[in-house]
Amino acid sequence: MRVFLQTLPPLTCPGHTPVAALLPKMTSPRFAHRTFSRFTTALFAGLSLVFLSGCKLTEIFNLSGPQSTMVSAGPVAKAQWDLFMVTVWVTTFIFVVVGSVLAYAQFKFRAKTEADEHATPPPQGHGNPFVEIGLIAGSVLLLVIIAIPTLRGIWYTHDVPEDEKANAMEVTAIGYQWWFKFEYPSEMVPLPTGGEAPLVTGNELVVPAGVPVRVQLRTVDVIHSFWIPKLAGKVDMMPNRGNFLWFKADKPGYYYGQCAEYCGESHAIMRFRVIALSAPEYARWLENQKQVARTVTAESLAAAAAVPSVQFASLKFEAGSALAASPGFDANPLAAWQDMQKPEPGENAQLIATGRKLFSDKTCISCHTVRGHEGIGITGPDLTRVGARTTIAAGVLENTPERLHAWIKDPNHFKPGNKMFNGGYIDVETGTAKFQLTDPEIDALVAYLHSLK
Ligand code: CUA
Repeated sequence: MRVFLQTLPPLTCPGHTPVAALLPKMTSPRFAHRTFSRFTTALFAGLSLVFLSGCKLTEIFNLSGPQSTMVSAGPVAKAQWDLFMVTVWVTTFIFVVVGSVLAYAQFKFRAKTEADEHATPPPQGHGNPFVEIGLIAGSVLLLVIIAIPTLRGIWYTHDVPEDEKANAMEVTAIGYQWWFKFEYPSEMVPLPTGGEAPLVTGNELVVPAGVPVRVQLRTVDVIHSFWIPKLAGKVDMMPNRGNFLWFKADKPGYYYGQCAEYCGESHAIMRFRVIALSAPEYARWLENQKQVARTVTAESLAAAAAVPSVQFASLKFEAGSALAASPGFDANPLAAWQDMQKPEPGENAQLIATGRKLFSDKTCISCHTVRGHEGIGITGPDLTRVGARTTIAAGVLENTPERLHAWIKDPNHFKPGNKMFNGGYIDVETGTAKFQLTDPEIDALVAYLHSLK
């Protein structure tokens, strides 16, 4: 160690002692003791971080976190997991057999004495046909054991099984830097300009549970990859190429999705959610989605207040549904999502109207669609129901008024390089805002966006 260290050039970074000057200390028993205690301190600190970071220990040991593939929630993910386990067992078997033979040979034929060290090696054979053919046959057998479920898995994940095809629904997922657009091609909605187009959502794909979902994968820019660890994964979204996957959620739930192919500076925070609902809830969600954007006026608020049990927005819940109460987002994200479908408490029609006007004046409308209102742009996510989403900025921030305010104020802080910042209301050349937004103006925009349920 000491000799090796002496061959190193002295370190001359400011604030650092050259390595040579450390030598006496590093080789002393006291240093060894201190290194050990530092090591234990670091280990302790690391473990504390795990505990303090909110990682649930059970999730760490069971590997069952929200994006774990090991606890699957649908048949496609289950098939992929089962195939993975076949490979794990076969390769574990190979590892144990080869490792044991190697360990046995090393122990059995080791040099025990000085004479062994200089002994003439025994006659070297050039292959025993029995052993060689046996090994080839064994390898082929192991490969066949892997190949059969692999081919079956490829066949199964390739498309929805014939007997379920009639029941399947279609969606198109389109990757953008850095968010996901979801289109429902069989659910057409009228366009303000005439004609119709598929219903569109952003970053939250809502599907019925127990129904196979066929997903056409597209991208408008670079290669992304579509991955819902608990349901299916992962298939690339390629420019000029139509890829495909299907999945099915066994039961209602809130599933985390993630772009799984490096696609630029905000790749790691290009996320989405899949919300699987019971059939009646899904039907209600769909019905509501197809309506034009909600318009809040003093009259509509007064009418709603007069009949408190009537929700004029979105999803209505089954009385007594276990998911109706929201004990907190992490504990039950599906319930949190359902909560978001309700109108914000204390809506202010005046503020919302101001926000809607600002949404036009500050040119938000040229990038975002709000069906039935002024927004017609398609560069950014469709915001017709943005107030009902649990997250904004492609799964990065929870959709609270404070966070939406912070996002509008400085989107680049949360998602570096995003188009809202670079191509939108910030002048890239000078780094200054093209459209000054004061805090009260942003509050009005937030009130407007959160009224869109
Ligand atoms: Cu999109 Cu990574």
